[in-house]
Amino acid sequence: MANIIDGKAISAAIRAEIKEETAAFEKEHGFRPGLAVIIVGEDPASQVYVRNKRRACDEVGFYSKAYELPASTTQQELNALVDKLNEDPAIHGILCQLPLPKHLDENEVILRIDPKKDVDAFHPTNVGRIMIGDYSFLPCTPAGVMALLERSGIDITGKECVVVGRSNIVGKPQAMLLLHANGTVTVCHSRTKNLAEVCRRADILVAAIGKADFFTADMIKEGAVVIDVGMNRRADGKLTGDVDFDSVAPKASYITPVPGGVGPMTITMLMKNTLTAAKDSVR
Ligand code: GUN
Repeated sequence: MANIIDGKAISAAIRAEIKEETAAFEKEHGFRPGLAVIIVGEDPASQVYVRNKRRACDEVGFYSKAYELPASTTQQELNALVDKLNEDPAIHGILCQLPLPKHLDENEVILRIDPKKDVDAFHPTNVGRIMIGDYSFLPCTPAGVMALLERSGIDITGKECVVVGRSNIVGKPQAMLLLHANGTVTVCHSRTKNLAEVCRRADILVAAIGKADFFTADMIKEGAVVIDVGMNRRADGKLTGDVDFDSVAPKASYITPVPGGVGPMTITMLMKNTLTAAKDSVR
């Protein structure tokens, strides 16, 4: 049976470290790191995320401000808010919760956020800096995966790493981070031929395709490390990952559960990025 990587515990440990660093930062500089969270419309899942982000800010001692805008907000209004926050010295990180209502252009918002305050690391400047390995921020989910591996004592150097999923938010940056950590990286996606065969080569498998319980024991090498980025709702309403945990866990050496694996790390990494942005602002 695999070791279960406890994302909640690792996340709590990192938040405690951030809290300490924040207190020291405030003592030295006389202000706290500040995060602005923008949400447009009333998507219930987004509202939950935003609430959790604000709670996390309180927990680590950040200043935070939420902008809850109506679904009827225009692009001009949203742009004006971003411009204002870009100029606000109390704000070091700006996060605009995605998805936006259809009449708004997400890309325009991503481009408008000052890269120094882009704690999602979605701006092309930050994406490019990740590519060349010269970055301040990492996108939160892949950064969370790397922290889980590191804190579980899993060495990546020379390992066969298979990332399944090629999104800009998870798959692509995840592949780059594993590469920076000296892994041998393969990126798979919906058009990959012989997916099961490629997955069976993986010493470290990162599952990020958004299909409930898709990865079964026959796709996993004995002793592999299995990281499940999936967050899917089963028909019965239960939250489940991309990995069929019950069949895969006996074969893996390490595995992340859903919930309680990668999920809790994402907001923790957002806190880390906000602290980094505040530190960069006084350099
Ligand atoms: N919606 C779901 N995940 C995210 C995220 O990481 N950042 C933003 N901005 N929106 C999201």
